[in-house]
Amino acid sequence: MRTPMIAGNWKLHKTCNEAVELVEALKAAVADINDVEIVVAPVFTALTSVAASIEGSSITLAAQNCYPQESGAFTGEVSPSLLKDAGCRYVIIGHSERRQLCGENDEFINQKAHALAAAGLGTIFCIGETLEERESDQMYDVLRRQVRLGLKGLDTTAMASVVVAYEPVWAIGTGKTATDEQAQEVHAFLRALLKELYDEKVAAATRILYGGSVKPDNVDSLMAQPDVDGALVGGASLKAEDFARIINFE
Ligand code: PGA
Repeated sequence: MRTPMIAGNWKLHKTCNEAVELVEALKAAVADINDVEIVVAPVFTALTSVAASIEGSSITLAAQNCYPQESGAFTGEVSPSLLKDAGCRYVIIGHSERRQLCGENDEFINQKAHALAAAGLGTIFCIGETLEERESDQMYDVLRRQVRLGLKGLDTTAMASVVVAYEPVWAIGTGKTATDEQAQEVHAFLRALLKELYDEKVAAATRILYGGSVKPDNVDSLMAQPDVDGALVGGASLKAEDFARIINFE
């Protein structure tokens, strides 16, 4: 019942022209795929160019961040409705790079989740533990806190537009993927947590993506895990051929 989602997080890469070139190549490579939701998240400045390129295709657009206010004196920020206006259907929030490099906490991420729900946008909500937290047995406490506070106050209707992305911080950009068993174990925990915080229906319907060094050569066995519903892909989404292979997981 859960349509797999493969999302490419392009991070701070690609000019407008390069982004269009990449998405055009991707479009050609995935033209006949209709059972996977394909998402790309370029930098803000390339959103409208990429939106024009993917019009009429099965690729959807996401932004990598937003500010939890509609408008006002917030220099340098971009609101959910402006992202919607630029063609986005999803926004990534809670990414560990923003938590670590920009000091974003659970409360701020929660404000973004509410702003996105109010704007009618989908949310790709990232969580994940550091290596230190995993090795000191704090992993489940950390993940529970991130989910509980990050999604606080979102009702079951709003949850229908939320995709959870489990991205162990130690696996992001390191080439060290979680094993299939590690991913499945955490995804099953997260699904049980959704059942506890919401209900069986929300737990069964919410897609939980895995992220952290997903590549063409490890995607198949990750996607074979019963609670892994897709992938959030950084580095390997920057090459059309690799990303298309990931989307074509077996
Ligand atoms: P990676 O990044 O695939 O390069 O590890 C994943 C992410 O940060 O979303």
